[in-house]
Amino acid sequence: MSKSLENLYSETRQFPPPEALAAEANVKAEAYERAAADRIGFWEEQARRLTWSKQWDQAVDWSNPPFAKWFLGGELNVAYNCVDRHVEAGHGDKVAIHWVGEPEDDTRTVTYNDLLKSVSQAANALTELGVTAGDRVAIYLPMIPEAAVAMLACARIGALHSVVFGGFSVDALSTRIQDADAKLVITADGGYRRGKPSALKPTVDEAVAQCPSIEHVLVVRRTGQDVTWGEKDLWWHDTVEQASPEHTPQAFDSEHPLFILYTSGTTGKPKGILHTTGGYLTQVSYTHNAVFDLKPETDVYWCTADIGWVTGHSYIVYGPLSNGATQVMYEGTPDTPHKGRFWDIVDKYKVSIMYTAPTLIRTMMKWGDDIPAKYDLSSLRVLGSVGEPINPEAWMWYRENVGREKSPIVDTWWQTETGGIMISPLPGVTASKPGSAMTPLPGVSADVVDDTAEPVPNGGGGFLVLTEPWPSMLRTIWGDDKRFIDTYWSRFGAGAASQPAPGPSDGAENQNRSAAQGHGDKWIYFAGDGAKKDDDGDLWLLGRVDDVMLVSGHNISTTEVESALVSHPSVAEAAVVGATDPTTGQAIVAFTIPRGNVDTAGDAGEELIKELRNHVAKKLGPIAKPRQIMLVPELPKTRSGKIMRRLLKDVAEHRSLGDVTTLQDSAVMELISSGMKDRKSED
Ligand code: WT7
Repeated sequence: MSKSLENLYSETRQFPPPEALAAEANVKAEAYERAAADRIGFWEEQARRLTWSKQWDQAVDWSNPPFAKWFLGGELNVAYNCVDRHVEAGHGDKVAIHWVGEPEDDTRTVTYNDLLKSVSQAANALTELGVTAGDRVAIYLPMIPEAAVAMLACARIGALHSVVFGGFSVDALSTRIQDADAKLVITADGGYRRGKPSALKPTVDEAVAQCPSIEHVLVVRRTGQDVTWGEKDLWWHDTVEQASPEHTPQAFDSEHPLFILYTSGTTGKPKGILHTTGGYLTQVSYTHNAVFDLKPETDVYWCTADIGWVTGHSYIVYGPLSNGATQVMYEGTPDTPHKGRFWDIVDKYKVSIMYTAPTLIRTMMKWGDDIPAKYDLSSLRVLGSVGEPINPEAWMWYRENVGREKSPIVDTWWQTETGGIMISPLPGVTASKPGSAMTPLPGVSADVVDDTAEPVPNGGGGFLVLTEPWPSMLRTIWGDDKRFIDTYWSRFGAGAASQPAPGPSDGAENQNRSAAQGHGDKWIYFAGDGAKKDDDGDLWLLGRVDDVMLVSGHNISTTEVESALVSHPSVAEAAVVGATDPTTGQAIVAFTIPRGNVDTAGDAGEELIKELRNHVAKKLGPIAKPRQIMLVPELPKTRSGKIMRRLLKDVAEHRSLGDVTTLQDSAVMELISSGMKDRKSED
């Protein structure tokens, strides 16, 4: 952005941690000071949470930036740390996973003993199939315990897994298999989605036909539906479940690759984000303990993400299991067979820590307060949010209707690339503000800078950057070091200084390009997000910088306008985009979902639109008043629940739609486009 980002939204509410929780918290305020005094030493202390077969000689090597190495010379086995050591410590009978299938009463209980047996069998079966350390294994499974078992079995033998979300297409699966040159796929006949078995195997069959590198396809029988059987296919129950349950884990180097996870962002060829062993496990284990205040003896933890996203990797599999947690894993959708399903699960399993996404919170808001009110949610004591900025009103709704005003909320900012949580409140320390991710965790160095890489003052907005290496950072993009440098390290700092001068700006899309130097000659990681510091220096995430709107020379974040809309009692969810405008350059166009009980027929709808435009102007100032507001039933989202503003921009600018392949539900765009034609302009 040519100037820094406007800071329009102000929030005065603040909630200190509950006293009892603060007194017993795993991490207290002194951790910030300790980490600031000796950052590297602090991470070494966290690495000691794990069981190492060989001690590291050097904590970090940052002599060849941006390629980091952590805990050099150290050796460990990730699966041993997540499973065996808990059994050895006498916790074999402890429940690791309360698995809840989508069909009601379809449940399984997996203890740490069970996990050890299954992971050992799977490790033996994979070895038998010729998978060795360094090989790549694609995993395309529903949310069943075998997904965690498959990941841990790969880790146990040093093979890299590449989990592909079970809702992705043939094309998405085959390009990921090809890019990683995987030799095995682990899949299932299908999984349950919205009350029905939903097939996975046909997608794999088609993808594998285009992937000569695949030698075998290992198939879990989950739904029992018919499958076509080919030469490469093997049933999980004929192989894994027949294998020996004895397997001795071998230690791997701290920098041995652990997994690849593809992230598509909103455009472009998916990037294979590479994570390695010791640093990754250190940070996910530490942050899971610190941010959720996990007490493994008493807590029941539930992360509602899918295993296909990094949240599922770090905060279903590696973080919680390395900490010996008991967790819930749910297979299905939140409204099957009814809209209270999540709360029913919390109630039944006495879930005490819940980690979910703003998109789900806003959906629950839309469905109405009466639904969670029917359940006993008193077991909950810490609530988490991740994936998008959480609007202050959605935060308040979560606090009041789910946390019943007693559970702290941790809004956790991180990315597939960062591997683990970076910016978040600590539930026993931080007095949180609704909508703010607050401060970097102990040991993490983040800042908000302007386009010359100078830190913005309190009250200012700009680009979120990470200024020091961290243990769970991505090591590269699989097979593409240059893209790794170009994407994350070339905007600011030393990496920018070595770039050729930028070409002439070519319009709105590229208005943000500038190779600037700042923070001395340090290597600076640019996350792609806008952020601001409030008057206390606390951090507010403002969305992807590519989405920033340039209205009459002001850089306005989509997040602030959306939050202003959601702060109106009639609004459940909103997405805004900057559409080309002859007078202001870009104008704000908002797509708004009313709450369930709001009448929007005819004049009532027109009245509401008028009221909302004025409401935004009042909250943020006249510069942020939307030119146009559409009332819509749904918003286009990616499979992971992020709003696809690019498509809304196409609609707002009356263009035909761009690439819709990553859209969760393609019918949504037709609904929105047809509504758009009905009401051309609200101005
Ligand atoms: C992007 C990363 C992190 C695991 C799930 C998503 C956005 C994530 C927050 C938050 C505001 C957030 C950012 C980030 N994001 N958490 N608490 N507040 N924005 O992983 O798919 O790699 O997406 O999600 O834009 O860059 P991902």
